[in-house]
Amino acid sequence: MIVATSISKVRETINNVKQKNKLIGFVPTMGALHEGHLSLVRKAKKETDFVVVSIFVNPTQFGENEDYNSYPRHFKRDKEILKQEKVDMVFYPSVRTMYPEDFSVYVKETSLSKYLCGKTRKGHFQGVCTVVTKLFNIVQPHISYFGQKDYQQAQIVKRLVRDLNFPIKIKVLPIVRERSGLAMSSRNNYLTQEERERASYLFRGLKLGEELIKKGEKKAHLITEEMRRFINKHVSSKIDYINIVDPYTLKDVDIIEGKVLIALAVYVGKARLIDNLIVNPGGSRKSSIKGKGRRFF
Ligand code: PAJ
Repeated sequence: MIVATSISKVRETINNVKQKNKLIGFVPTMGALHEGHLSLVRKAKKETDFVVVSIFVNPTQFGENEDYNSYPRHFKRDKEILKQEKVDMVFYPSVRTMYPEDFSVYVKETSLSKYLCGKTRKGHFQGVCTVVTKLFNIVQPHISYFGQKDYQQAQIVKRLVRDLNFPIKIKVLPIVRERSGLAMSSRNNYLTQEERERASYLFRGLKLGEELIKKGEKKAHLITEEMRRFINKHVSSKIDYINIVDPYTLKDVDIIEGKVLIALAVYVGKARLIDNLIVNPGGSRKSSIKGKGRRFF
């Protein structure tokens, strides 16, 4: 596995690989790898010939009072994991490599970024769009893989690629969960055992919302109120948001008539955790049976 820390090393390697007409797959990450990340890596290995993973804790996507300094960094361990997965190249740049001292150009998405996490994490998606643009320009992959765990991020990256004409296909893969239902996340590292148990109720909260929708409740505010009570009781009272939104525009839905996204962000101890579920009220019998088969508790 090639470990590249410079942009020139990545370019040189990619140029060689492209000359052989190989398909390049790319998985951008901030490291502290878990099975969620690895699901993307494995899909990339299946679908492409040369897989690049980046590990970069991107300072521009963290707010002033957020966890940039304490974000888990385990490069040695991550490198071993990626070697085992037979990843072809890991890109591990320094902050200075990505952001020269007088760096002054940013990329901003102006519609989808206004909702959900964008409301409380000002500037976050600008940081994400900027670093993803840079990484795409450096790696120049054919396909890049993202997780539904960060649903809003994936939608924004799709928009970025469409609006700025990147010749890259974006694939979004399902959320990988622990047996308890807790969505895997590098930020779960912050949780104590007791907090981790409480955090597993976030997914049950989402399933409660789904159940109400499937039973025919159409008023979004009644559903989010029930979920709020449930999460308040079992998880934490520090709820950033629980919203039912249109999966394409991310705008709040008042009356549920078609497919919706239930999304939430809740603080558990020091960790701000996010999770989401797509619900189709008129889902086919087949998909509702599949849904039951995939229950985690
Ligand atoms: P990070 O949080 O490390 O996540 C990297 C990728 O892994 C993202 O696409 C994320 O959605 C996906 N992922 C995380 N947890 C997952 C889970 N439980 N199941 C499935 N996929 C999961 O997202 C970022 O990094 C950064 O914002 C980045 C895109 C790298 C830009 O800095």
